[in-house]
Amino acid sequence: MDGRLEAAAAAPPGGTDPTAAGHAVYTPGFLRLYDSLVLGVFGPLVWRCPTRLVVAHYARHAGRRHLDVGPGTGYFLARTRLPPGARVVLLDPNPHVLAHAAARLARLRPAALRADVLRPLPLAGRFDSVALTYVLHCLPGPMARRAPAIRALAALLAPDGVLFGATVLGTPARHTWLGRALLADTNRRGIFDNRSDTAEGLRALLAESFAALDLRVVGAVAVFAATAPRRFPP
Ligand SMILES: C[S@@+](CC[C@H](N)C(=O)[O-])C[C@H]1O[C@@H](n2cnc3c(N)ncnc32)[C@H](O)[C@@H]1O
Repeated sequence: MDGRLEAAAAAPPGGTDPTAAGHAVYTPGFLRLYDSLVLGVFGPLVWRCPTRLVVAHYARHAGRRHLDVGPGTGYFLARTRLPPGARVVLLDPNPHVLAHAAARLARLRPAALRADVLRPLPLAGRFDSVALTYVLHCLPGPMARRAPAIRALAALLAPDGVLFGATVLGTPARHTWLGRALLADTNRRGIFDNRSDTAEGLRALLAESFAALDLRVVGAVAVFAATAPRRFPP
């Protein structure tokens, strides 16, 4: 892993990109604000999931060969002590995200791969862990539409590997009035597409590709770790 930025198919040529709204918002300016605003305010106070809990989730699950899908600013990996000799791949369709996270995590010499998790992944090999933290709610819904991505990530894991992360649910009853207002705004702007996301839907999505699942809901956030990836014929 040498920190180079690789470009892969991130968007269909000439067509409209159905996932663009979910990642285009991460401009260099917004990335500078992201940790304080999203992880400092929205996560703990609006979605009501303490960011330290997600830090602990990384500490528990991130392995030696780690793939981070949608790394954002790299906040969580920057706070994770990875096993010696760790190899990290960052995957995101947004080049600003890759540049920002790769610079912050330079000590890990991550490989950066520009790709959309909803499209065929230009990746092979075996990972011990894949993180999908605060990404699912940015992908076009409903939940079932994300199944090919989950299947593809499961196929990249070692037999004892783990897919872990967190996602904001759309269930109104789990939200405060402030959460519902922000949910409506982010869904209207296409930054989130999680109006129909439920814990049960997420459980079904992950169970299709994994035989074991730990899922708990904290505030309006589902925090999950899926193990025992199922193998599908190619
Ligand atoms: C809300 S941020 C989460 C960042 C980081 N994981 C965290 O928890 O702080 C969503 C991330 O997912 C990425 N993303 C959005 N759509 C994506 C897609 N289709 N494929 C891969 N990554 C995507 C965004 O560019 C961004 O890095």
